[in-house]
Amino acid sequence: MPPTDPLEASVHGKTITTGQACEFATPGSLPPCTLVIFGASGDLTARKLIPAFYSLYLTESLPESFTVVGCSRTRLSHDEFREKLKQAISKEEKIDLERWDGFAAKLFYQPVTYDSQESCRELAEYLNDLDRKQNTGGNRIFYLAVPPTLYPVIAQRIGEVGLSQEGENGRSWARIVVEKPFGRDLQSALDLDNVLHKSFTENQIFRIDHYLAKETVQNILMFRFANTIFEPIWNRNYIDYVGILAAEDLGVENRAGYYEQAGVLRDMFQNHMIQLLALTAMEPPALFEDDRVRDEKAKVGRSVKRLARETLMDNLVLGQYKGGMIDGKEVPGYREEKGVNPDSITPTFAMMRFFVDNWRWQGVPFYLASGKRLARKETKIVVQFKNVPHSMFRKVLDEKITANRLVLGIYPEEEITLIFQTKVPGAKSCLRPVTMDFTYYQGFQGSPLDAYAKVLLDVIMGDHMLFWRQDGVKLAWSYLTPILEECETCSNPEARLHPYEAGGWGPVESLDWMSLIVD
Ligand code: BG6
Repeated sequence: MPPTDPLEASVHGKTITTGQACEFATPGSLPPCTLVIFGASGDLTARKLIPAFYSLYLTESLPESFTVVGCSRTRLSHDEFREKLKQAISKEEKIDLERWDGFAAKLFYQPVTYDSQESCRELAEYLNDLDRKQNTGGNRIFYLAVPPTLYPVIAQRIGEVGLSQEGENGRSWARIVVEKPFGRDLQSALDLDNVLHKSFTENQIFRIDHYLAKETVQNILMFRFANTIFEPIWNRNYIDYVGILAAEDLGVENRAGYYEQAGVLRDMFQNHMIQLLALTAMEPPALFEDDRVRDEKAKVGRSVKRLARETLMDNLVLGQYKGGMIDGKEVPGYREEKGVNPDSITPTFAMMRFFVDNWRWQGVPFYLASGKRLARKETKIVVQFKNVPHSMFRKVLDEKITANRLVLGIYPEEEITLIFQTKVPGAKSCLRPVTMDFTYYQGFQGSPLDAYAKVLLDVIMGDHMLFWRQDGVKLAWSYLTPILEECETCSNPEARLHPYEAGGWGPVESLDWMSLIVD
């Protein structure tokens, strides 16, 4: 009999319930804590952090005692801060503000001048006092929702006033959360790390990559290592190539100041794309534990074949969008965007061929592509299998047999699809490729967890699984820095930058590769 509840499935005749065992930790099991947000009057706080924290409050997923202390240079009272956030999040239609007042009572505000030791000392006193009143146990998360140029000074001041110190025997903890970019090349990444490590140990540092918090990205490891049938064929013997696509239809929006300095290689490749590559290529860790998983990812980083200067441009296509049409609307070219230098040579598209130099992946190309103002927003991993070694059908079928393909869809469809061959029903012997698909939320009745909510919970629990470890950051920059230097300092960088029309799939120079991964 088919299961009646979508959460139930029948295995060997026994009914098992899926999903429920996965309910999140109960509030009582989470340690009390204070989230201290630097940059509390900014966009990230209003658009991401507070909505995520509020959604956790609504589902009663927060610790019993918790507080949020907003800090920034602006002078605000607690009530002004609460009201400002309420106004900001009430713009989000989906948010139910009925229980806002209860949540708002946990929000506090303390103005801080980031480079003043005196001001940070006042913050320390304020936090100690609040701990006593709110029973938050001295556990603190310092979230740097500020421009990266401010990371060093804030980390240093926090350390100087003793806020990074932890209680003995785990009595109280202090954690710092930073978002990418972690530097803009190898040297600046090492410098940033030195500053962070002056006040915090590696275990106290949480480097966010929001791609890692996406459900379907987390699922890659489950899919690969909780099934027997994929792992034996996940190698050079069966896989022809792997494609990783993160295409966006949006342009640079209002981030030209940052993007002009970054470009697509720093913005998407140094972090998200390399993480997707590592998750697809890594070996199975001995245990599903943060450091064991990060060890395996680092090993992929060490195995990626370095590109020699002479062969670099055979393996890399850079592009920049021109004006064009997207969804029937005319959009400007990158150089016409507000804040962009009209002669800018910042790449907004890159497609790069990687090779992972190890036993499993020898000779298998990994095509990674990401760009702005492409035909549509789509994020996916394509695993293309090899052709059948011998076609016994060659006399009856004139068509070529299409090889199997597995697609791990991340956006817009969160789904897994497998394409394989079957016979067309009827008297004639004909083949047709069919698709077997699984939609990620199929049979799941809970509410999906927002990526920022997931990340915040993991920091509260001290789980590093979804965060970058410094060796990974260093490996990613060691790979990319020579490439960036070569592209940016060669005699004619513009000659290597191929313009492409907005609304297409990138420069013509990459279309052959692109056709391998885009339908
Ligand atoms: C960010 C980049 O990290 O990721 C942005 O800075 C990019 O430029 C964004 O648009 C893409 O994220 P997502 O989740 O929309 O694929």
